[in-house]
Amino acid sequence: MARHLITSAIPYINGIKHLGNLVGSQLPADLYARYQRGRGNEVLFLCATDEHGTPAELAATKAGKPVAEYCAEMHDVQARIAQGFRLSFDHFGRSSSVHNRQLTQHFAGVLADRGLIREVSETQMYSPDDGRYLPDRYIEGTCPNCGFDSARGDQCDNCTKQLDPVDLINPHSTISGATNLEMRETKHLYLRQSEMRDELQAWIDSKTDWPVLTTSIAKKWLNDGDGLQDRGITRDLDWGVPVKRGTQDWPGMEGKVFYVWFDAPIEYIACAQEWVDAGKGTDWQRWWRTDAGADDVTYTQFMGKDNVPFHTLSFPATILGSGEPWKLVDYIKSFNYLNYEGGQFSTSRGRGVFMDQALEVLPPDYWRWWLLSHAPESSDAEFTWENFQASVNKDLADVLGNFVSRVTKFCRSKFGEVVPEGGSFGAQEDALIADLTARIARYQDMMDEMEVRKSAQELRAIWAAGNEYLQSAAPWTVFKEDPERAAAIVRLSLNLIRLYAILSAPFIPDAAATLKEAMKLDEMPWPDDVAAALASLAPGTGFDVPENLFRKISDEEREDWQGRFSGKRD
Ligand code: MF3
Ligand code: ZN
Repeated sequence: MARHLITSAIPYINGIKHLGNLVGSQLPADLYARYQRGRGNEVLFLCATDEHGTPAELAATKAGKPVAEYCAEMHDVQARIAQGFRLSFDHFGRSSSVHNRQLTQHFAGVLADRGLIREVSETQMYSPDDGRYLPDRYIEGTCPNCGFDSARGDQCDNCTKQLDPVDLINPHSTISGATNLEMRETKHLYLRQSEMRDELQAWIDSKTDWPVLTTSIAKKWLNDGDGLQDRGITRDLDWGVPVKRGTQDWPGMEGKVFYVWFDAPIEYIACAQEWVDAGKGTDWQRWWRTDAGADDVTYTQFMGKDNVPFHTLSFPATILGSGEPWKLVDYIKSFNYLNYEGGQFSTSRGRGVFMDQALEVLPPDYWRWWLLSHAPESSDAEFTWENFQASVNKDLADVLGNFVSRVTKFCRSKFGEVVPEGGSFGAQEDALIADLTARIARYQDMMDEMEVRKSAQELRAIWAAGNEYLQSAAPWTVFKEDPERAAAIVRLSLNLIRLYAILSAPFIPDAAATLKEAMKLDEMPWPDDVAAALASLAPGTGFDVPENLFRKISDEEREDWQGRFSGKRD
């Protein structure tokens, strides 16, 4: 049995995420976790909220709440919505946990002991009007790289370049709008990533199977020398992990905290410790320490493209630099952006569909199916309500839903709610089995390779193959002449429903659960052999006709939603 450690980029605490965020990390990570579990492998699937740094402080200020309270509340909100989408995390942790604090301080101490941290006196933007330093998101201005006019102090959202507040052109405070800024001398810690250039280069070069999107971003950063400049890992902020050298105070660093991007990825490890603390597991080292069994683990990370530099360079620099036997990531699956109706999703303007709103409108499977089958893999993708309506109505309602409904209802009317016996199979069934055998093999290959869209395409084709079989075998016609033969066709079709429940569960877990219940299945082992899988439901086994697996989206609904999500959120 293989063992898979799977992490999704941990979402910032500052508000509810939109569907573009969801499809960029959490949802495909869940697809992969469910698939690996379905194949009988051992999985540890972790995610958390990213609670430190300026995004959290700014959002708490806006909400008029103490930041710790704000984070606790928003964590629960995000956890509930994640459940709403059936994201099957083994643990949904918090980067503000004690474990993450201790582990972050531990890494800083070890890195310092190994000579990989230097103390730098530097000038930082200070705002006399605000009475504070303005790190990262507390400052905005024009990007020196691409000219985008609302680049943040730490990164340009337009060109993804990592920035320093002092690089910005025409900077202003995002708290007060003040432009009266001065440079003040302050001391910070820098991680000497440049020392690790060769080691990181060799590591990335060894990853020949990674998606082009991931390696091209990593290599660009390495070769520009850009990503490997030594990076400041501390900030003049109140909220965050206090700077310590292991358990010791760090002279001169009082009142400072680690930069959010230093502690956030460490939460991937801390989250496994939280998982143990929560009584859900017993041994986190087995997943994270190569001296405790993690050598057998395959570790896969999921994230949007803007996160790639931090996961290919910064975090590996922390891990490798420690010289300790931590598990390094084996595969990084990254995503482009999802756009919304001809523009961008906008959190600030409330443009697009946010995770909470999506669930108010339709159940999770509808969203999961559209998002995954249109995942922005090879390029950016676009959500339109027309396309969403068409996919749901066609793939889910007409193809899968209709198949299930026709088969179960026809069986009920002619043979009752039990799998009928008798009759024999012939060429049509042989052809179907051959076709499905090839398609399922390809589906597995695509899922193993995390080719999300191609997997969805293959799954849809597998559903369609059942429909075509049913259409051409036409048990309703055959029944009049040869009820035995009709029974055989129906029996096979009922077995197809069972097969679909198993294969579709990673994409549409609720529908799969409904089918599982309707077919009265105890377990759903992954099909190794299609012919055997299609003979799994014995004649005489009872079933229920599932009510409305999927409903169609009407034109009125679509127009209504189109209007509702076009602008300002209330
Ligand atoms: N919070 C970041 C974002 O939403 C992702 C952090 S991923 C981690 O872009 F590696 F830092 F954990
Ligand atoms: Zn830019």
